[in-house]
Amino acid sequence: MCTWSASQVERAVITMLDSYGRRIDYMRVSVTDKCNLRCRYCMPEGVEILPMSDLLTMEEITAVCRQAAGLGIEKIKITGGEPLVRRGVPDLVGMLKAIPGIRQVTMTTNGLLLSKYLPSLKEAGLDAVNISLDTLNRENYQQITGKDQLETVLSSIHKAVDAGLPVKINAVLLHGINDSEWPRLLALAREYPLDVRFIEMMPIGAGAAFESVSNVLLLTKIREKYPALVKDERIHGNGPAVYYRIPGFMGSVGLISALHDKFCSRCNRIRMTATGDLKACLCYGTSVNIRETLRSQGETAAGHLLSQVILSKPEAHCFEEKNRISETKKMISIGG
Ligand code: 5AD
Ligand code: SF4
Repeated sequence: MCTWSASQVERAVITMLDSYGRRIDYMRVSVTDKCNLRCRYCMPEGVEILPMSDLLTMEEITAVCRQAAGLGIEKIKITGGEPLVRRGVPDLVGMLKAIPGIRQVTMTTNGLLLSKYLPSLKEAGLDAVNISLDTLNRENYQQITGKDQLETVLSSIHKAVDAGLPVKINAVLLHGINDSEWPRLLALAREYPLDVRFIEMMPIGAGAAFESVSNVLLLTKIREKYPALVKDERIHGNGPAVYYRIPGFMGSVGLISALHDKFCSRCNRIRMTATGDLKACLCYGTSVNIRETLRSQGETAAGHLLSQVILSKPEAHCFEEKNRISETKKMISIGG
């Protein structure tokens, strides 16, 4: 006889499909547009910072996520800017983890402040962390991010791994700057139990000025170097990455190929910016702000808005046709 618990029954019925039949169970939540780095493809010098009063409070973020959970969102990624520059993020992790239906709360960080907050994040129940690291070369790190902080990030990576937190490294390759570094970056997955993911540059904000390094070509090169590479069918994360295993490596290699492997048919996500703009797709400027609805009409009305945004998700991005991309914001204010 089937013996489902009450919570299993509850999860089985709460599932929100978009109008293309995709199950939307993942929300990326940006908590700030500030960052302590200045990556040239994300937040070049001179980007304007929003006033604090425009941002959702941690309680408001939690209220939206509670409504999202009621619509079938099970996994939340806290993003920025750099999320850890905002005070109270470990507490937010705890508040999100306490929402019935939220199974996983993870974070994307540049790692600069991770060592400091690691104990409180672990304590709050953070499930995993993605750490952005495009290079293992000190000069390149400074050239890409504007700061001489490679050692700080490496130390955070070691500490996160030692603390038993599942770690993924996010690397964006840039032609002529760090694209020859993929073997060294990949080797991190041999030395440590972590996944290394190569993300194709998306033509959004300052990233539009860079030509994307193709993950199709990268995969060919990886295969030449490691002919025993095999597809890894296990589920590693929340989204569109395709994973491979290399014998002798502790972690896997992931490829996120927005341009060369259009993954829109598997898209499972919506986004919320730090000011409460709900975005159904990164490619388009269309967004709906939830902040005023939440403040003036309350949580249920905000939940209704959220469901409309899920239903409005477009079928696919159009990154391959640059003149159709209508998003004009910088990646830093959307949340990577
Ligand atoms: N294309 C792809 N990835 C980007 N990121 C920032 N801007 C872009 C872009 N235009 C990545 C960062 C970081 C994550 C949050 O998003 O490298 O790893
Ligand atoms: Fe900051 Fe990440 Fe953007 Fe770099 S890519 S500027 S670390 S938010």
